[in-house]
Amino acid sequence: MPTHSSPQRKVTIKRKVRMRGKYFSLLIVFIVLAFNGVLAQNNSSTPKLRRSDFPEDFIFGSATSAYQVEGGAHEDGRGPSIWDTFSEKYPEKIKDGSNGSVADNSYHLYKEDVALLHQIGFNAYRFSISWSRILPRGNLKGGINQAGIDYYNNLINELLSKGKKTTYIYIIPKQIKYSLFSFLTTEHILVREYLLPSFHPYIKYQVLSTNDFRDYADICFKNFGDRVKHWMTLNEPLTVVQQGYVAGVMAPGRCSKFTNPNCTAGDGATEPYIAENKPNYELSHAFTFIYLRIITNLLLNVVQQASQKGQVGIALNAGWNLPYTESAEDRLAAARAMAFTFDYFMEPLVTGKYPIDMVNNVKGGRLPTFTAQQSKMLKGSYDFIGINYYSSTYAKDVPCSTEQVTMFSDPCASVTGEREGVPIGPKAASDWLLIYPKGIRDLVLYAKYKFKDPVMYITENGRDEFSTDKIFLKDGDRIDYYARHLEMVQDAISVGANVKGFFAWSLLDNFEWAMGYTVRFGLVYVDFKDGCKRYPKKSAKWFKELLNPKKSN
Ligand SMILES: *[C@@H]1O[C@H](CO)[C@@H](O)[C@H](O)[C@H]1NC(C)=O
Ligand SMILES: *[C@@H]1O[C@H](CO)[C@@H](O)[C@H](O)[C@H]1NC(C)=O
Ligand SMILES: *[C@@H]1O[C@H](CO)[C@@H](O)[C@H](O)[C@H]1NC(C)=O
Ligand SMILES: *[C@@H]1O[C@H](CO)[C@@H](O)[C@H](O)[C@H]1NC(C)=O
Repeated sequence: MPTHSSPQRKVTIKRKVRMRGKYFSLLIVFIVLAFNGVLAQNNSSTPKLRRSDFPEDFIFGSATSAYQVEGGAHEDGRGPSIWDTFSEKYPEKIKDGSNGSVADNSYHLYKEDVALLHQIGFNAYRFSISWSRILPRGNLKGGINQAGIDYYNNLINELLSKGKKTTYIYIIPKQIKYSLFSFLTTEHILVREYLLPSFHPYIKYQVLSTNDFRDYADICFKNFGDRVKHWMTLNEPLTVVQQGYVAGVMAPGRCSKFTNPNCTAGDGATEPYIAENKPNYELSHAFTFIYLRIITNLLLNVVQQASQKGQVGIALNAGWNLPYTESAEDRLAAARAMAFTFDYFMEPLVTGKYPIDMVNNVKGGRLPTFTAQQSKMLKGSYDFIGINYYSSTYAKDVPCSTEQVTMFSDPCASVTGEREGVPIGPKAASDWLLIYPKGIRDLVLYAKYKFKDPVMYITENGRDEFSTDKIFLKDGDRIDYYARHLEMVQDAISVGANVKGFFAWSLLDNFEWAMGYTVRFGLVYVDFKDGCKRYPKKSAKWFKELLNPKKSN
């Protein structure tokens, strides 16, 4: 199946070394080019995949997140998170005016979810823990909610008890009976309204302190760490930065007025970059690095000291960026687009520094710097990297803007889903989701060659369809999506990418943030009008056949 040539393939490109930053970008471009167009993929039919195309210990799982599936939002002592507030206070910001207070009702129906996972044959589940279900007031001082701990204990025990009985045990690596992937986050929430402001005139939200994060993590490890072995600290910090603080369409809904008049406050030029070294700014997205630092290093220690042998990583979302044309300028623009998305989080973890393209482009002292000690702590502070991949884009070189500056204009690149009117791939239900399977391979190989060959898991991948009035189970397009993306993952592995597992997003149709319930990402259909009744779609059966080879042949 793999038809690529060597990724080290020589590519000649005109060098225009104007400054150090550009020079570094150029190096990146080599990697970019080497992966573009290497694989002429035939898309005329859905590829046939076999379990044996993947390493024996490769993990196949499915993912959900707390606020999107749990419901029970106001039950048993759970406190509010910013998504409760955002969706319940501003229903006009959610496409169908809905919220996640009931969602899939997994808080009550978790046993059904676990049964579905096992029926399909997945050997891992990636779920998230709701911070405000464990610490309803955000911090230890506000008390631990035992009902929250009980809920996750029940879920974990249910997963394990069923996991042992299944017949697919042979594909499970020796020591892992059932792999529980959890990410220690409050589903895109690190700030909470009610620990509030006082210090800062316009920042409405205050970040929980790093001590709070450590306390929270500590509670999770102590209570679940004997059974949960893979931990992810944050999920898609880039989404929080971009959608929560630049576009303003997700919680907490902050942005510059010129970006979106609906935002009540915000500054897309500064907030996405603000970090903890300005004490009064110890806010919002400071999660970026102060948290990374703590979670990874410090918590790594917690895990290891507790002799629980857990692994800690982070789930980063990114698309792949192709140059709009083959010009050197557009290639550099594509490299800058990567710098401001994937590298923004990855580079500090690997080198302890921000990407040089960000240092060069974020003018006026808006990009914080790390102290030598912070850099040192950041460097190498992960066991694995989670990659959430859905779609790719083109990047075109454009003049840097001097007014209406935001984090979106700083890369001096116009990022679009189409080239001369031709989309990069077919569109799913969500506008941004243009299907480009090769991007997952290119992104993974980029991470491999640029960032010291990390252990990676594809922690999310999937497509959506629109909700209609009818129960819709014939999701052939989803099967096609997974077959093509998994084929590309397999191809990346065959080139040497250290990808250890794949999680389909999502097990269930669920609350899709600002899209509410208007789009569906599930392998399992959820009838929200009928008690959240679950119906496996055709794609669930497809996975079942893939994961239980005896039945399929
Ligand atoms: C693409 O698929 C078609 C139909 O399955 C086949 O005839 C053709 O040879 C394939 N092309 C390549 C380049 O694999
Ligand atoms: C296959 O490729 C063609 C041409 O690149 C594109 O127009 C079409 O949408 C693709 N089909 C699918 C199902 O990906
Ligand atoms: C949130 O959703 C629930 C369940 O659909 C609904 O009953 C409730 O009215 C919503 N809350 C608000 C404040 O809109
Ligand atoms: C602002 O809100 C209105 C009403 O909810 C909505 O129709 C419009 O699309 C929003 N504008 C933007 C830029 O999101």
